Amino acid sequence: MAKTPLLRLSGVTRTYHDGTTDIHVLAGADLEIAPGEVVALVGPSGAGKSTLLHLAGLLERVQGGEVELEGVATSRLNDRRRTKMRRRQIGYVYQFHNLLPEFSALENVAMPLIIAGSSLPVSKARAAELLDLMGLADRVKHRPGALSGGEQQRVAIARAMANAPRMILADEPTGNLDPATSNTVFQALAKLIREQGSGGIIATHNYDLARKADRVVTLVDGRILPHDLSVQSV
Ligand SMILES: Nc1ncnc2c1ncn2[C@@H]1O[C@H](COP(=O)(O)OP(=O)(O)OP(=O)(O)O)[C@@H](O)[C@H]1O
Ligand SMILES: [Mg+2]
Repeated sequence: MAKTPLLRLSGVTRTYHDGTTDIHVLAGADLEIAPGEVVALVGPSGAGKSTLLHLAGLLERVQGGEVELEGVATSRLNDRRRTKMRRRQIGYVYQFHNLLPEFSALENVAMPLIIAGSSLPVSKARAAELLDLMGLADRVKHRPGALSGGEQQRVAIARAMANAPRMILADEPTGNLDPATSNTVFQALAKLIREQGSGGIIATHNYDLARKADRVVTLVDGRILPHDLSVQSV
């Protein structure tokens, strides 16, 4: 029997009302992520990638359909339960990173661990390890304001990985990085996801990186379709 997917989206819908018109951003999106699987989500700007990740990450509720995390349906759970699941099971890298400005890089990454109950030394050691992996060993004491955009983004990735979440949802995590750093960071992220037996969805406009995922999908008219990188480009 097939293993329960880490994440299953089935028939997910999301419509925005724009004055008098309805925009059906998601119109029955289906997607399953298996343990150890890294899926790249590509598609033009406005296709609904961030919307899909928000719903999968329990940051917003679906209007129709279901989001199951490790076999548990989430759409009807109360906010408290959803927040708990999100904290324990999901690592989220926002499209526009939101680090805490008054804390150092190390403290930002250690924060989710401390909140989850790890001791300060353990949290800081794990944070240092993750920052090292992201090539930021010499930036641990810097506050976000003293880091470049790309460095901040790498701190945000390390933070999302801190609790070894079952699902990583990353919204253009390499958007601000130069090609070489993009490649290193993407590979490090994919490696961590696979090693932990977690699952990942990485939204990206970068097809060279998307190729390194196990599978590439796109959004067309609000639905998820497999994407063949060899025949099309955006
Ligand atoms: N709160 C909102 N109210 C109204 N429309 C919205 C809202 N959020 C998103 N949209 C619209 O939904 C569509 C999908 O947006 P989304 O941010 O998911 O796209 P995306 O694929 O992530 O694009 P990008 O590649 O530019 O990040 C867009 O047309 C956007 O204008
Ligand atoms: Mg987006």
